[in-house]
Amino acid sequence: MSWDPAVLPSQAGKTIVVTGANAGLGYFTSETLARAGAQVVLACRNPIKADAAATAIRGRVPGAVVSTLSLDTADLESVRRAAAELNELPRIDALILNAGIVHPPKDREVSLDGNELVLATNYLGHFALAAQTLPVLQRTPGSRVIPVGSLITRLMDSALTDLQLETRYNSATAYAQSKIAMQVFGFELDRRLRAAGLGGSDGVRSVVAHPGYSISGRTPGIRGVNEPGLMKRFVDNLQAPFTQGKNRGAFAIVRAAVDPDATGGQYYGPRFVVKGRPALQTPTRTSTDRRVAERLWTESEQITGVTFAL
Ligand SMILES: NC(=O)c1ccc[n+]([C@@H]2O[C@H](COP(=O)([O-])OP(=O)(O)OC[C@H]3O[C@@H](n4cnc5c(N)ncnc54)[C@H](OP(=O)(O)O)[C@@H]3O)[C@@H](O)[C@H]2O)c1
Repeated sequence: MSWDPAVLPSQAGKTIVVTGANAGLGYFTSETLARAGAQVVLACRNPIKADAAATAIRGRVPGAVVSTLSLDTADLESVRRAAAELNELPRIDALILNAGIVHPPKDREVSLDGNELVLATNYLGHFALAAQTLPVLQRTPGSRVIPVGSLITRLMDSALTDLQLETRYNSATAYAQSKIAMQVFGFELDRRLRAAGLGGSDGVRSVVAHPGYSISGRTPGIRGVNEPGLMKRFVDNLQAPFTQGKNRGAFAIVRAAVDPDATGGQYYGPRFVVKGRPALQTPTRTSTDRRVAERLWTESEQITGVTFAL
């Protein structure tokens, strides 16, 4: 029988952190986990949107335990402050690295730290966050890091030799690179955790997930969280055969985070690639290429100034 996200085992007692939790997949991941009893930390850059999401979850899930945390993944100082707060928590059972720019700017922009903005937001901030929250993850038995990748990794490839795209930026390349980097990082993290004796089911696992093709016009309307207009609903519903709502796209992320049988280094996504119930998938060759991973890791440590204790 396939795993059913609608009937999750109780997650009471667990603490789960979701980046970019105020909208889209991050919101529905958070709501689903809160409904199963987990305490969920909504890590968001905009406090008003974060509060709206927390209010929505409390309204839709009686007894939900949610809190908010300020985090701008495109700002390494904000990441450092958020990680310091997270390390004060008694435990983190899952750190879900979801925040992202999905419609990148047409022209190249840079983050406060001077890095290409899409890479900084989608990947570099998450690399630094995972590295800096390793202490609390390590003291939580069976904890997980869930890097959110994308099926764009099947459509575009890159050996990640030009992370900053100073002369060859275009929005599609920037987005694809950021998501390829997330996947390469996710699989490398698991290998490094195991090599350091910190991985496996009692240690820290890295399980990569992707949500297929999930769009807001096919997603339930929630005030302050998802309010697509009539035209957006109409256009998005024309794409029904190959899309799903973000509430359903969240299931692969949820499964990676809580399925007791999920092991480190696995890759979860919708059964029919773009949509469907979450199932084990095969990542692209680049995603698990160790030479690409080693170069990315070294460069990520240099760019962020953050070193993994691995
Ligand atoms: N939707 C899909 O079909 C699809 C497919 C493959 C992968 N993904 C991945 O899934 C993730 C979520 O996508 P989505 O479709 O749910 O997008 P979305 O609805 O646009 O939500 C993106 C979330 O990320 C947050 N975010 C953006 N920049 C941030 C920053 N600098 N710091 C903190 N949070 C930030 C947004 O916050 P604000 O509201 O403040 O902007 C929002 O909460 C992304 O990583 C995306 O690459 C999505």
